[in-house]
Amino acid sequence: MKKILVTRKLLNSNEEKLKKLYDVKLNSNDELYSQKKLIEISQGCDGILSALTDKLDKETINLLPDSVKILSNFAVGFGNIDLEAAKKRNITVTNTPEVLTDATAEIGILLILGACRRASEGIEGARAGDWKWSANYLIGKQLTGSRLGILGMGRIGQKIARIAKSLGMIIHYHNRSKLNSEKEQGAIYHEKLESLLSVSDVLSVCCPASKETINLINKDSLELLPKGAVVTNVARGDIVDDEALIDALNRRKVYAVGLDVYKNEPNLNPGYLKHKSAFILPHLGSATKETRTAMANLAIDNITEFFQTGACKNKVN
Ligand code: GLV
Repeated sequence: MKKILVTRKLLNSNEEKLKKLYDVKLNSNDELYSQKKLIEISQGCDGILSALTDKLDKETINLLPDSVKILSNFAVGFGNIDLEAAKKRNITVTNTPEVLTDATAEIGILLILGACRRASEGIEGARAGDWKWSANYLIGKQLTGSRLGILGMGRIGQKIARIAKSLGMIIHYHNRSKLNSEKEQGAIYHEKLESLLSVSDVLSVCCPASKETINLINKDSLELLPKGAVVTNVARGDIVDDEALIDALNRRKVYAVGLDVYKNEPNLNPGYLKHKSAFILPHLGSATKETRTAMANLAIDNITEFFQTGACKNKVN
């Protein structure tokens, strides 16, 4: 029986399934392993079912035992893993696409609504009991008729586009390539990011984090947005330069932000915490029972497919 290290606690049904299939090392206390500990406890393992909280950088990967042949990441994103380093060591890296598209798109829409309709201030006021209805209390931005710019029109971006369209938004997008008309759903393609930003009343960041996208949303790119734009990020914190975004919020260049992901999670930039116009969530994108169950099942299936066939359709390196 293959031996699998599971770095984070999973839902019970997934752990039961793993126990039937593999000799598993579970993490029942859901401890966040240091890189040193991860290397130590992976000794003798054939594979690792990792999470986005595991920093599998070059140094860590180079110190993994030779027995490890697969890193099955429990996420669609894999910015936490140095793919090149894994490839050099002949370790297959897999992810969990598709199964989390709907749940993550729901949070993407929540970020747009929360930021535009001043949900943070509203929740605070309602909880503190210091509010009264008045014609101009917490006036927000209506979505109907406003332009949504989607940066990264993959599966999640397309689903956000579909929902936002039904809310009356006009959809624009930037992607490496133009999509076919079925996937595009009438959205307007911008070959250049600059062009997309200039029409984005609301920006939704949906692209993967990679060398090319790190800090793509920065001081210069933020300047291209219409004044009073709303910036939301459901993808990865690394894509946004926090200092620049907080500065844009302070200057009212940006009206509000809606964020689910951050650099250096869970220690987000304190500049967001004190900002009334920041609608912030703690990385809830895929956090539903259905989705987390399906993600873990897929991460397990990826391991099984790999050990049975030597390949895996969800291989990313
Ligand atoms: C969640 O953030 C994921 O990448 O699966």
